[in-house]
Amino acid sequence: DDSYDEECDYLFKAVLIGDSAVGKSNLLSRFSRDEFRLDSKPTIGVEFAYRNIRVGDKLIKAQIWDTAGQERFRAITSSYYRGALGAMLVYDITRRATFDNVKKWLHELREFGSSDMVVVLIGNKSDISHLREVEEDDGKNFAEAEALYFMETSALENLNVEESFMQMITRIH
Ligand code: GTP
Ligand code: MG
Repeated sequence: DDSYDEECDYLFKAVLIGDSAVGKSNLLSRFSRDEFRLDSKPTIGVEFAYRNIRVGDKLIKAQIWDTAGQERFRAITSSYYRGALGAMLVYDITRRATFDNVKKWLHELREFGSSDMVVVLIGNKSDISHLREVEEDDGKNFAEAEALYFMETSALENLNVEESFMQMITRIH
């Protein structure tokens, strides 16, 4: 809705990071358009989506950036993080390697991102928890140790998606 542009009180930039195929693009499409694709393609370069959110009496325009988890498809890292106030660091609860790599992503985030960024750690694909390789407590404990917020989500079943984006957005400022 273009009319929001003039009325919007704040513009917040946030970024999605994490390994390939953890579900970053589907979390964003679920949040911004309520869409999910089982056959989604890996992201190439950078894409972004907007959503306008009311927090109290303020209208916030959230601009969420999404990039490739695959190194060879990634855009220049410093410009991706520039000006970002929030980040969602996503892993796949059914693939342990994606959780082990969270450390690497956090390192990059702290190198290129602003130090006061609000970071939410997301364990995605909670709908297939029978295939789980990462216990919820592992995510929770890691997040606590690193002072991150934490949530498990399912982009497929639309579980905690709204809540996790809102947690990030409402804690900025
Ligand atoms: P890159 O763009 O390569 O970094 O990957 P991505 O993190 O954006 O992953 P994407 O959203 O493209 O999803 C990868 C695959 O996981 C797709 O087949 C999705 O349908 C699937 N997927 C994403 N979220 C979920 C979820 O919550 N549950 C299940 N079961 N599958 C999911
Ligand atoms: Mg993607």
